[in-house]
Amino acid sequence: MKIAILGYGTVGRGTYDIIQARQKDFESLGGIQVAKVLMLEKEVDQCGLDPDLICTDYQEILEDDTITCVVEVTGAKDQGFLFMKEAIERKKHLVTANKAVVSQHLEELTGLANRYGVHFFYEAAVGGGIPLISPLKAQAKINTIDSIEGIFNGTCNYILSKMLDQGLPYGEALEKAQDLGYAEADPTDDVEGFDTLRKLVIVASLALGFPVLEEDVALEGISSIKVSDMDYLKDHDLKIKLLASFKKDGDDYGLIVEPALIGRNHPLYGIDGATNAASLHGNFVDQLTFIGPGAGKYPTGNAVVCDIMDLCRLKEEKINFTKRLKGSQNDIKAPYYVSLDSDQNLPKDWIDWEESVDGGKRIRTKEISRDALVGTIENLRKEGADIFFARIQ
Ligand SMILES: NC(=O)c1ccc[n+]([C@@H]2O[C@H](COP(=O)([O-])OP(=O)(O)OC[C@H]3O[C@@H](n4cnc5c(N)ncnc54)[C@H](OP(=O)(O)O)[C@@H]3O)[C@@H](O)[C@H]2O)c1
Repeated sequence: MKIAILGYGTVGRGTYDIIQARQKDFESLGGIQVAKVLMLEKEVDQCGLDPDLICTDYQEILEDDTITCVVEVTGAKDQGFLFMKEAIERKKHLVTANKAVVSQHLEELTGLANRYGVHFFYEAAVGGGIPLISPLKAQAKINTIDSIEGIFNGTCNYILSKMLDQGLPYGEALEKAQDLGYAEADPTDDVEGFDTLRKLVIVASLALGFPVLEEDVALEGISSIKVSDMDYLKDHDLKIKLLASFKKDGDDYGLIVEPALIGRNHPLYGIDGATNAASLHGNFVDQLTFIGPGAGKYPTGNAVVCDIMDLCRLKEEKINFTKRLKGSQNDIKAPYYVSLDSDQNLPKDWIDWEESVDGGKRIRTKEISRDALVGTIENLRKEGADIFFARIQ
């Protein structure tokens, strides 16, 4: 199989290196050959690749009928989507790691791939190096998947682990994550939960069998957490995680990305640092948990190469996003941990436990409606309140 890699950055280089290193092992699959690498003009001099491989004009790749698979790893949103669409329309199989595009255009790209008779794989888009998409597709065929919980953002998990283990304030833990290359200079996508949300959209769509929308997901990031919140966790032997949660109950389902307090019996309790993990529950298979590196040149390149190998075997069944449930996104009811200033209040009948701390107070609520809680918190935030909340699992 002759492939073209679009984008020669972290994942593009990882993919290229692995394919080169394992040439002999791919012979039994008919061989995998990188025919072209698309890059920007400014990258050509420094790339160190054989000049015959380098390409700066995508049309050349599209028009080369011997290239049967395009691997899109540019990270570009609009341009990346166009690259993908055009590849499929030229009847080339598509492999990508681009979660932003997959999350937003899953239905359209899947439908287009079906129409043009090609395959569309995106294993690396969720959980980096963790093989998750492929097993999830298989399990969703056999089982009703009624819950998925994931730690899908290594940056957030690293920050939360450092705050809990070393008592670092949020800002310092974020700086450490940036020094180590886990967090971008602008960390908004990670810490406000958008990156996690995109991955939840992808796995929930596969679990349900129809595409959910980014705007269906209730979202709260981690940037409002304070170091004083860690005392509560330590007192109660809990950990805090930015959890992506999908729950299905009959025809209703719920999608939330928010900080959650989890105890020792939770399958994701031991997932610390930059590691990613996902735990799903199906009616036949019961609980399955997947753990591994959520990012990185070779782990992510490895996931891309797995997709290319699957393509060579052509074992993948096509997905049709046709069914719809009759129910809808439901509100959830859960107990919450809330830390707020001393002069702010939650309704009295919500409160299960309350304690005063320096300049503020900590509250554990009874089981309450998340929509009601978020509504109240949004109003308090409009008045300038500094509030952190997390679901108690
Ligand atoms: N890094 C990871 O561990 C990881 C894990 C899971 C998923 N992903 C996903 O994989 C994708 C690639 O990530 P990455 O970390 O490899 O990004 P990256 O290191 O920034 O690499 C992307 C490369 O593509 C180039 N590029 C951008 N637009 C292009 C265009 N129109 N034509 C040709 N080249 C173009 C970029 O150049 P400029 O830098 O000049 O823009 C850069 O060299 C993203 O969608 C990301 O979300 C990454």
